Amino acid sequence: MQRVAIVTGGTRGLGKATSQILHASGYRVAAVYGHDSAAAEAFRDETMIETYQWDVADLKSCQEGVAKVERALGPVEILVNNAGITSDAVLHKMTEEQWSRVIQTNLGSMFNMCRSLIGGMRERGFGRIVNISSVNGQKGQFGQANYAAAKAGILGFSKSLALESAHKNVTVNVVAPGYCDTDMVASVPPDTLRAIIAGIPIGRLGTPADIARMVAFLVHDDAGFITGATFSVNGGQHMD
Ligand code: CAA
Repeated sequence: MQRVAIVTGGTRGLGKATSQILHASGYRVAAVYGHDSAAAEAFRDETMIETYQWDVADLKSCQEGVAKVERALGPVEILVNNAGITSDAVLHKMTEEQWSRVIQTNLGSMFNMCRSLIGGMRERGFGRIVNISSVNGQKGQFGQANYAAAKAGILGFSKSLALESAHKNVTVNVVAPGYCDTDMVASVPPDTLRAIIAGIPIGRLGTPADIARMVAFLVHDDAGFITGATFSVNGGQHMD
């Protein structure tokens, strides 16, 4: 039986690598994207993985999107909540819009997607949820009060859902990536990025595959005794 997996933000960056590794491992993958249709089209052509468009910041949009995936591919048993944005600014310059948009996209999406899928996973007695946090949710980051708050919120959210779901054979874990070679990190000012890389003991940015391999491990049937845990994949930048 091929299990069905949804990967949000699944056509670019860490999500793209995750969609690809799950697809290569035999899962039926629905890669969800928000706005970048050109990237999604290129992804589809390159990988032959099916793409779906919806806004993870909006509950109704998630419910409708999940229903569409389930009609096409069958019940969703694996969810990777990877979609996220940055809108960096020091707090004394941050607008309410920057705050709300990042919180709603990065943390609100956890509620929206898990709420749309958890009922079915509980009924069927199987589920694997992996929520993507960040090293900056664990340690804080200059200029990221919004992002770090959302990414830290994911930790409490995931542990709570893990407690509620364990007896239904639904596991919920967190992967906390460090700085990786993605468009998001490429937008960090060059001097700042150089200083950040200097603080990574492994001495390089992560690759998207470094993160995707951890996600693939956690969603496997054999990972059923792992739940409520946070896995740091950050080259030693922050040991937590
Ligand atoms: N620590 C301490 N001081 C810092 C600092 C830091 N990390 N970064 C900047 N400063 C200082 C500057 O030196 C400057 O000091 P002076 O006024 O004395 O010169 C002051 O803060 C203001 O700096 P800027 O001129 O750069 O301020 P700005 O308002 O233009 O921009 C910023 C601030 C938006 C935070 C910008 O520095 C920035 O984008 N930093 C990168 C933040 C970051 O790491 N984001 C991660 C994105 S990737 C990601 O999030 C993925 C993931 O999960 C890891």
